[in-house]
Amino acid sequence: MLFTALCLTLPLTACSPDSGINPQLPGGNGSTRSIRFADLELPLSTLTQEQLPQFHAGKALAHQPWVKAPTITDARDGLGPLYNANTCLACHMGGGRGILPASSSVPVFSALLRLSVATDNTRNSTMATVLQQEGVIPHPLYGDQLQVQSTALSHELRHKKPDAMNAADETAPEAYLYINWQPQLFRYPDGTQVNLRRPEPVVKYLAYGPLGEATHVSLRIAPAIHGMGLIEQIPQQAIDALADPDDQNGDGISGRVNRVWDARSQSTQPGRFGLKANKPTLEMTVAGAFANDIGISNPLFPSQPCTTAQQRCQQQLSGNNADGFELPDALLSLVVDFNRALGVPVRSAQQVSATDAGAILFSDSGCSLCHQPSFTTAGDGPFPQLAGQKIWPFSDFLLHDMGPDLADNRSDFLASGREWRTAPLWGMASVLSISQRFHKQAGLLHDGRATSVEEAILWHGGEAEGSRQKFIGLSQTERKALLSFVESL
Ligand code: HEC
Ligand code: HEC
Repeated sequence: MLFTALCLTLPLTACSPDSGINPQLPGGNGSTRSIRFADLELPLSTLTQEQLPQFHAGKALAHQPWVKAPTITDARDGLGPLYNANTCLACHMGGGRGILPASSSVPVFSALLRLSVATDNTRNSTMATVLQQEGVIPHPLYGDQLQVQSTALSHELRHKKPDAMNAADETAPEAYLYINWQPQLFRYPDGTQVNLRRPEPVVKYLAYGPLGEATHVSLRIAPAIHGMGLIEQIPQQAIDALADPDDQNGDGISGRVNRVWDARSQSTQPGRFGLKANKPTLEMTVAGAFANDIGISNPLFPSQPCTTAQQRCQQQLSGNNADGFELPDALLSLVVDFNRALGVPVRSAQQVSATDAGAILFSDSGCSLCHQPSFTTAGDGPFPQLAGQKIWPFSDFLLHDMGPDLADNRSDFLASGREWRTAPLWGMASVLSISQRFHKQAGLLHDGRATSVEEAILWHGGEAEGSRQKFIGLSQTERKALLSFVESL
């Protein structure tokens, strides 16, 4: 931490001659051997033979499709009635990122549209409690996430659009979501051009009435899920030490900790997971995903994903087990442990030596002011393998104002409509190759608009504007070197 503190107070160049930020084992001792296209769903290489069956049991619950209740096998039913996808890995494909369709006529099934309504009515005590526990005021008809699928037969057969379904007979999906891409051209001072594109969500066939003008929407694609246990194990003090909410060091970069609801401890805690750091723990992240993305109730999120306006949804049979949940604590913790044990791929000595120049340019350009290279994980925790590891996530896990172009104008707990959590960059080589394999192209940033690392950087603004300008001002050769470094992580 001392090195970092020095870098933040001295001019950037003082850190660069020996930047030392080009690791071979980004995920510490448990970094995984690379298996092409599957390397983001591999267990820590240090997991023991005794731990592996648990890992695979958790993976099965995250990978095999959930089905509509009731079924004979109680353990795997309860899908929906409203949902976005029937397994975790349908969105986090191969442990990697989701994608948005390139064509405006193809409906989106693996990204999310978050919804909320604005209110200044925080003096009303019900609203204040909802804001404290949910971070937003959910839309009265549609809740806080648009569910584009339901267990209704006429949707499964794609016989009828949601708005044409008979709401008394069947639970209609809330709507279908499409993307209109808005092209935008960027030109470097040397004349090189880059085609950028911005996604505009289009909601069609609404089944439960109009969204209304005051609705805030935020489009998000699934991020990759490797290294989650290591991230969980970073001491909170190490993250707090990087925060500079009032920019007291005057470097133009603030960085704030989100404070969010933890249903397990029934208290407000620092946030670390999610694109706006709106979840405090991995358990809350996974439990929330089960409830909202797949429609699987659990002890932390006990309700079905139906609003009071969705009566048929509320009346439908649940897949509850004897204890009153579709996913009891014991199965939830299997999936949490599966996420926890996902390792981060090793980098070859060749990758490291070929990208040293780019690593230096990365810190010289101010990227590492937010993409904090390394941390040491805490000495205690759920798995001994995660403890005391030097790890290289390249994120400070803080919120930053990223400017108007990336803004979703939807706040989430303390995160404003312009703030996002610094995206971790570790595993980028695998993230890119898995996206190529499954989707034929990459989709970086919160809404997947960037098809390359270069495009992602060009969209940076706000607190990152200075850094973006430094990147733009590099020569073509230097830009290439910096990009190769990030692409090889
Ligand atoms: C419909 C697609 C979809 C499904 C299904 C889905 N996720 Fe996600 N996942 C997302 C999106 C989008 C985010 C980012 C959410 C946000 O920040 O608002 C996310 C975030 C996460 C994160 C946090 C990653 C980080 O960097 O902090 C984890 C972990 C995760 N999901 C695990 C799961 C698990 C486990 C399941 C199954 C129970 C699941 N997801 C199901 C789309 C999905
Ligand atoms: C002020 C903080 C800040 C600085 C400085 C910064 N970034 Fe970022 N970076 C972010 C945030 C926040 C995101 C997530 C934005 C989003 O999803 O919309 C991000 C996202 C990215 C992504 C996309 C990753 C993904 O998985 O989607 C890449 C690549 C990236 N940054 C590279 C860089 C590089 C290279 C530099 C230096 C030229 C840099 N960043 C400087 C904060 C910063």
